[in-house]
Amino acid sequence: MKSMMVKMMVAASLMLAGSASATEMPALAKKHSCVACHTIDKRKVGPAWADVAKMYKGQDAEAKLIAKVAKGGPGVWGTMPMPPNSPTVSDADIKELVKFILAL
Ligand code: HEC
Repeated sequence: MKSMMVKMMVAASLMLAGSASATEMPALAKKHSCVACHTIDKRKVGPAWADVAKMYKGQDAEAKLIAKVAKGGPGVWGTMPMPPNSPTVSDADIKELVKFILAL
């Protein structure tokens, strides 16, 4: 039931992402502390998610980014590695977040 609620909230924020210019970090990103290192439009510890979306625009990057978020690692945006998020963050949640990021 709770995960159903979370899914609905993510779906709602995905719909908003298309129209609102000041996109907010989705509830899932707050729940899993992605917000500690990422924002939508400013570089923090990790790259801005809007920049990630720009870099992979037109590419079929979903599977690749799901694997990267799960396993973590450095090299694409600098030498600072992202810590692994799996298995703390479920595969389903990682997928939702990557879809959100690529849709920015
Ligand atoms: C402790 C800080 C930290 C946390 C927490 C974190 N990230 Fe990252 N993230 C980074 C860093 C640093 C990079 C850049 C890695 C690189 O250069 O390859 C990154 C890169 C990324 C990328 C781009 C990967 C690529 O290969 O281009 C995505 C997508 C991403 N993070 C999503 C997430 C999501 C979703 C979460 C929450 C589940 C999250 N991050 C939590 C630090 C973090």
